[in-house]
Amino acid sequence: MLSLYIHTPFCDVKCDYCSFHVLPTKDLENEPALITEYVAALKKEISEWSSTIWKEEIKTIYFWWGTPTKLWTQNLIDIILLLDEKFDLEDLGELTIECNPEPPEQIYDLIKTLHKTLKKVPRIRLSVGIQTFDNDILKESGRQYNFNALTTFLRTLQKIKQYNVSYNLDFIAFGKWRTLRNGERELWRAAERDFLEWLIASQMADSFSAYTLELFPWSTWYNERIQQTDKMKDGHGLKQYGDDDEVYDEFNYYKELFLSYWYKRYELSNFALQWKSSVHNRAYWEMESYLWLWSWASSFINKNHKQFKGIADHLWVTTDIDTIAWMRWSNTKAIKKYLEWDYADTTSLIEMNAQDYLIEEFFLSLRTDSGISNLEKYQPVLVADYKNIVAQLSEQWFVETQRREDDQKLLLTDQWMDVYNEIITSLLEHI
Ligand SMILES: C[S@@+](CC[C@H](N)C(=O)[O-])C[C@H]1O[C@@H](n2cnc3c(N)ncnc32)[C@H](O)[C@@H]1O
Ligand code: SF4
Repeated sequence: MLSLYIHTPFCDVKCDYCSFHVLPTKDLENEPALITEYVAALKKEISEWSSTIWKEEIKTIYFWWGTPTKLWTQNLIDIILLLDEKFDLEDLGELTIECNPEPPEQIYDLIKTLHKTLKKVPRIRLSVGIQTFDNDILKESGRQYNFNALTTFLRTLQKIKQYNVSYNLDFIAFGKWRTLRNGERELWRAAERDFLEWLIASQMADSFSAYTLELFPWSTWYNERIQQTDKMKDGHGLKQYGDDDEVYDEFNYYKELFLSYWYKRYELSNFALQWKSSVHNRAYWEMESYLWLWSWASSFINKNHKQFKGIADHLWVTTDIDTIAWMRWSNTKAIKKYLEWDYADTTSLIEMNAQDYLIEEFFLSLRTDSGISNLEKYQPVLVADYKNIVAQLSEQWFVETQRREDDQKLLLTDQWMDVYNEIITSLLEHI
């Protein structure tokens, strides 16, 4: 069984905080032709993979960054129908499409068409990047809508929701607080705060993601800040508006609201109503195999996948596969090459051993509310006195440990996920 990511590297314009590799198409004269060519190349890649993993069962499909809705609704449907022909979508658990909140009519049409065409899919998940209600930030960062447009858009989404459609809304904590004359600090205007509270209380969204702003190379704001300050904070992203505390205060503001209206935090940045956490994201955090299509894509195949050898042959892997615990590789980063059907970048292939696998499994599992089962299993990659450290963390309520017979389970408690990096660094020998 596999999950599929489908990458869409086009956006109207590139947002100033974004460090994803995307091609802004607003001023491109040949945009329609380029997208048509891209869809054709993707279909060819799907067909090539299907010769190796014909009728493979697909668990989830995720149309990911930049803006999958740059493709017309009919393109998306055609791609899904082709996947249905070449693979086995009988038990598909979730189909996610990421989108921006505009143009609104296209999103409404997409929801209605997907619902009508894909009645058998139990969950069609639309993940919408709202980012903020602050008009200044929206404008400064190059987003193409404002707070008023968002209120109309979100109210309409609520009205047209269908039984098998689910909504996830993304926000970023930018850390922009204002100090009022009376000394109080304010996040947004009252209308924006009230609307956020209505939005969460109405439970029209099944889940929310709240990220803290991180600025990395390839984003405009990062480069502007680097030019101004000429310094980088030891490997972490830079902040644009407030300091770390202000960003975390805003994050906590979201967090408290989500928790108070019954959204449960199921991962560092993700909150969902009961049974509504993303099946696809969970598969990723649990290190199940996934194939990622289109340029820049980075796939991962677990050793226990029944076609591990066939996939290694497809990629021209020459190493003895008994020494590999899993494989990771990327597709070409050159869109031109991709369009010429030259897909995988075989130089990017990483063949990882069992130890690397344990490290990755440890830090991915600890991000989620599933936590880590069988702590002893990770002993080869943990620091020598890990048991003492776990005991101390447990006393401070950063982690919860549960012992069942020989199995010790480790779970981060609620205050905790915010100190996730420190906990991981204190426990893992190499990271
Ligand atoms: C793959 S992105 C793109 C989604 C979609 N194109 C959009 O912009 O709405 C998914 C999410 O990552 C988050 N994100 C993007 N850049 C970020 C940054 N610099 N810091 C924190 N979160 C970021 C945003 O919330 C965004 O919705
Ligand atoms: S945030 Fe979304 S719309 Fe903006 S550039 Fe990044 S992927 Fe594109």
